[in-house]
Amino acid sequence: MRVNALLPLSGLIGTALAACPFADPSALGRRAEGGEVDARERLKEVEVDDNGQFMTTDFGGNVGEQFSLKAGGRGSTLLEDFIFRQKLQHFDHERIPERVVHARGAGAHGIFTSYGDWSNITAASFLGAEGKQTPVFVRFSTVAGFRGSADTARDVHGFATRFYTDEGNFDIVGNNIPVFFIQDAIRFPDLIHSVKPSPDNEIPQAATAHDSAWDFFSSQPSTLHTLFWAMSGNGIPRSFRHMDGFGVHTFRLVTEDGKSKLVKWHWKTKQGKAALVWEEAQVLAGKNADFHRQDLWDAIESGNAPSWELAVQLVDEEKAQAYGFDLLDATKFLPEEFAPLQVLGEMTLNRNPTNYFAETEQISFQPGHIVRGVDFTEDPLLQGRLYSYLDTQLNRHKGPNFEQLPINRPVSGVHNNHRDGQGQAWIHKNIHHYTPSYLNKGYPAQANQTVGRGFFTTPGRTASGLLNRELSATFDDYYTQPRLFFNSLTPVEQQFVINAIRFETSHVTNEQVKKNVLEQLNKVSNDVAKRVAVVLGLEAPQPDPTYYHNNVTRGVSIFNQTLPTIATFRVGVLSTTKGDSLDKAKALKEQLEKDGLKVTVVAEFLAQGVDQTYSAADATGFDAVVVAEGAERVFSGKGAMSPLFPAGRPSQILTDGYRWGKPVAAVGSAKEALKSVGVEEKGAGVYAGAQDEVVKGVEEGLKVFKFLERFSVDGDDDEE
Ligand code: HEM
Repeated sequence: MRVNALLPLSGLIGTALAACPFADPSALGRRAEGGEVDARERLKEVEVDDNGQFMTTDFGGNVGEQFSLKAGGRGSTLLEDFIFRQKLQHFDHERIPERVVHARGAGAHGIFTSYGDWSNITAASFLGAEGKQTPVFVRFSTVAGFRGSADTARDVHGFATRFYTDEGNFDIVGNNIPVFFIQDAIRFPDLIHSVKPSPDNEIPQAATAHDSAWDFFSSQPSTLHTLFWAMSGNGIPRSFRHMDGFGVHTFRLVTEDGKSKLVKWHWKTKQGKAALVWEEAQVLAGKNADFHRQDLWDAIESGNAPSWELAVQLVDEEKAQAYGFDLLDATKFLPEEFAPLQVLGEMTLNRNPTNYFAETEQISFQPGHIVRGVDFTEDPLLQGRLYSYLDTQLNRHKGPNFEQLPINRPVSGVHNNHRDGQGQAWIHKNIHHYTPSYLNKGYPAQANQTVGRGFFTTPGRTASGLLNRELSATFDDYYTQPRLFFNSLTPVEQQFVINAIRFETSHVTNEQVKKNVLEQLNKVSNDVAKRVAVVLGLEAPQPDPTYYHNNVTRGVSIFNQTLPTIATFRVGVLSTTKGDSLDKAKALKEQLEKDGLKVTVVAEFLAQGVDQTYSAADATGFDAVVVAEGAERVFSGKGAMSPLFPAGRPSQILTDGYRWGKPVAAVGSAKEALKSVGVEEKGAGVYAGAQDEVVKGVEEGLKVFKFLERFSVDGDDDEE
């Protein structure tokens, strides 16, 4: 254990650790049966179980509290009623300020397992042995929306991971997009002010389709690259489980003997990347604002624990500027062609929180929570973040002791001379709480690189010259990488980006802002500028080819891949209570569920074998839509007009499913339903035939997830 390096003092320190309930890692990252670390076990001792208990006040006496104490049955409530006062007072203070950004989120506990002993690249202990397990907590989020906003708003998504390592907490506070809008932290309040709702009427919620956002974007071209990513499927993922994560900044990894390399962190989803289409995301925002948090919760509850691999790109220190951009510039990513991904381990999220507020809301991630073996770089965005998170958390938690909250406590123990403050939870025994101190025999003792496995700054890190208030000229190019990103998408994905920019900018009312946007887009691509200009009713600028190139990279396209697993995807089986269609639907459901799919049988009303009514169902609820044999009767003629559902609802579900790129299918005679809504039976992602064929087809189709052939691209509708 880490105190062994302090051999002469080890006996004494052993005593100190034993006195601290959170000092013993083995007690806190406890191993469940089977030898695996149990992700939430360490929080068990602060869990409250009310079963079999009397209700008490906050100070512990048993009480009943159905009614307040009054001066006579119909009289005023008495000030004396301490039970009433305490209950109301606690309620009145339930809220803490929501996060100033990333307010909307969902989290889960899990386990990280190192694939190997990576001491050749880092002294970080959690990466120091093959099979070593470390508890983690991850919080996914959107950025701009308030805490109650919809999950499927188009946005960058937060992907913050806390590793409770045996040498302190390590947070990778990252996003699902590898780049950021700005290069210097001093611009962050401006960025956020421009995207948040307008200060006069607080409209619009969780959206950037408005003047101030695009005013800022078009005046600050460093935003272009991240904008392109956000306007693609990365801005509207199918679920948190279907997105990658990135540390965004360049960090350092440092070995035991002080050798360092620059590093980019990556989380690679093992579920595959998948995205919604925009119209579907908009409908979902109204139909189910909790779509993403529900998906994560349900996947974990049903035993489909999602997992990600932790990978790094490593670069020699002297190569920080070797690739035509600066690795300290957070608006650039490091294409895999320059530095391959090296996979270090795997994270599985296998436990939902017990209490949203105590865990997900109170967890306080900081890019400054790093451990021995990891170090910062001089990235000016990262440097600013190191101040901002601690500062904002002091505001949210009203004091400096938030690191003592159960979800924030490190499993490795805390020993220092920080004292007192609001909500102090520890009872410190050391009365000589200062250093140096002879009277306390030098404890807590000071560790360093060689003694006590202390944190150390990368040896040889140097300051970069004279102090100045400017941005390095190596950060100047804003256009090459957005173009690289755009070039690397499929034509339909490119169209999605263009459509998203069209959607957003067509909400902009100021003519000059629109022209500014076109000017910036034109530096990335004249083609993009022209295609957006058409919709805005404006002239596109002449080509501005300074940054034009035809390079492409891999790994940035979402739709151009086959998913490794389709477990937990939702299939809607459209049926009818008339005839024997429900029996057919049941057989179909059984066959699909054998393969891990979640099937919802839809019919006119709830009956045996019906999971949802047509009036409650719509295509956003399903990743694929199948019409069960016999159900063709609710798609046309009199059957389509029923008082039991809004007119034409079954056809609408099938049509939307098709329009939103989902696999659609019909069993046997139900192929008439396809015909009635004008879906070509032999089209890509359309399956018709016997049940076995349909099941096989739908399962193959779900791996493709979105059939992009169905979406038109500019030029498709040109006159012959
Ligand atoms: C100068 C730039 C930035 C500043 C000043 C900043 C500031 C903040 C603040 C104040 C919070 C709220 C924290 C809390 O209340 O606990 C936050 C949350 C967050 N930020 Fe940043 N941020 C910046 C850039 C970034 C970047 C580049 C990323 C991605 C790499 C990022 C990812 C996140 C995430 C994931 C959260 C949510 C953490 C959670 O789930 O609790 N931020 N940021």
